[in-house]
Amino acid sequence: MTAPAEGISLPVVLLSHRGPVSFERDPSGGRTASRGAGGLVTALTGLVSDLPDAVWVCVAASEEDAAVAAEHGGRAVRVSLDAEPRVLGEDGGEGAEGTPAMRLRLVEVDAQAHDDFYTVIANPLLWFLQHGMYGLALDPKLTKREHVAWEDGYVAVNRQFADAVVEEVKAVGGRALVMLHDYHFYLVGQQVREQCPEALVSFFLHIPWPGPDAWRVLPPPWRERLLQGLLGNDVVAFHTEGFARNFLLTAQELLGLPVDLEAMTVQVGERTVAARHYPISIDVAAIRELAAAPEVAEHAAALTEAFGGEDRQLILRVDRTDPSKNIVRGFEAFATMLEDHPELAGRVHFLALLQPSRQDVPEYADYLAEIGATVARINAAHGGEGWEPVDLRLGDDLALAVAAYSICDVLMVNALADGMNLVAKEAVVVNRRDGVLALSENTGAHQELGAFAVTLFPFDIQQQAEALHAALTMDHGLRRARREAAAAVVEENDIAKWLNAQLADLGVTPGPR
Ligand code: F6P
Repeated sequence: MTAPAEGISLPVVLLSHRGPVSFERDPSGGRTASRGAGGLVTALTGLVSDLPDAVWVCVAASEEDAAVAAEHGGRAVRVSLDAEPRVLGEDGGEGAEGTPAMRLRLVEVDAQAHDDFYTVIANPLLWFLQHGMYGLALDPKLTKREHVAWEDGYVAVNRQFADAVVEEVKAVGGRALVMLHDYHFYLVGQQVREQCPEALVSFFLHIPWPGPDAWRVLPPPWRERLLQGLLGNDVVAFHTEGFARNFLLTAQELLGLPVDLEAMTVQVGERTVAARHYPISIDVAAIRELAAAPEVAEHAAALTEAFGGEDRQLILRVDRTDPSKNIVRGFEAFATMLEDHPELAGRVHFLALLQPSRQDVPEYADYLAEIGATVARINAAHGGEGWEPVDLRLGDDLALAVAAYSICDVLMVNALADGMNLVAKEAVVVNRRDGVLALSENTGAHQELGAFAVTLFPFDIQQQAEALHAALTMDHGLRRARREAAAAVVEENDIAKWLNAQLADLGVTPGPR
């Protein structure tokens, strides 16, 4: 990855809940590893793998991750980042010629504490609150269970990760660029600042930040602690300017702090904390390389066989089965369109490639069941004569998703709320049929791509049905012009730009220890 404009050279300590590599034990007793996917992991892997001394702190997500951590006394280990990542040792060891490697610190968390942290507080409570998903009449209910989970889970796990980050910063002499990621770790910044006053601490939030009133769902001590934790950072960054403004307004309203909405700063005693926005993106070259792979071509041929042909069209969605993605209303909108346009019977398929997500959180398990029931209902009501309108496939297969992006006529993204949504960005750069993007107005991506999309209003099923029909019947020249323009925007604002803009604003060139 190319370094941004010259700045102070600082070693990097990075924190995210999920890490770039996870280990498993295979049936023959050997250790295997897989690389993490997703925008955050891809972007930061590029940064960290170029810097042999940078360290990435993340959770030990599997038993084998915990075994790797234990074998090295909980210290960071060097890991190669080729197709089959492996542990190289604590300080040295070489990957194959030219293979990037990184230092990884896998933090083993007590199972009960992690459950409280992840399945009671981070997801659902913070996630639902920040995506505006609570109706409030009945949920959320903050009982003794949640109070215990807050202290023994969220607070305790944040403290444990803060300790790991502090140890890494002290190991490089106290001066480092600390990059903290996401809603799992709101409390870490303040603890790092207190113990490492010379560190430059930045935080990036990958999900929406709602306005001040939404936060009143949390008891005052919790919300104040979250905010104080975040205000320990030098910079708190978001995907959109609206989220950054909401953050400042929340600090003003709930903590009574003075904010400057021109300069986008908040005053915390002597310190000025900046709220910034940097829309995350994708690695355009990497997704195009994958799109050209034989495996993708095979999937594309099979999908074309199933859904292609004269006078036939394909609507696609690719999502985690997260209630924030609004999958059930999306199917209902499709069914409404079929009712309003009987001439489409037998001619349009809806392919849903859904990755089961967070199934240990009851709300997520219930939602997946609801998705299955909705699809069964729609197929029973509308299908027949060899035509099954909705093809629901559960799994996680990036090559299949890219093949489907390349041949679809419409990509549906109707999220209730979404920090960015990288599916929309991926699809417009690999689609080969001048497919139309049908995109929720409540996604970060809508700010960049909305002008070239058919906008969806995520709660309005009738509007979504009409928008899907408009997308399917759009003039071909217009389809092409819009898709090309959208792809050009994503090419211009790619993942390197996201990261380099942050480093340039911080005035830092990542460097050795
Ligand atoms: O975008 C938010 C996020 O939590 C990412 O950090 C993560 O990769 C993704 O959602 C999936 O969530 P989880 O790690 O809980 O499966």
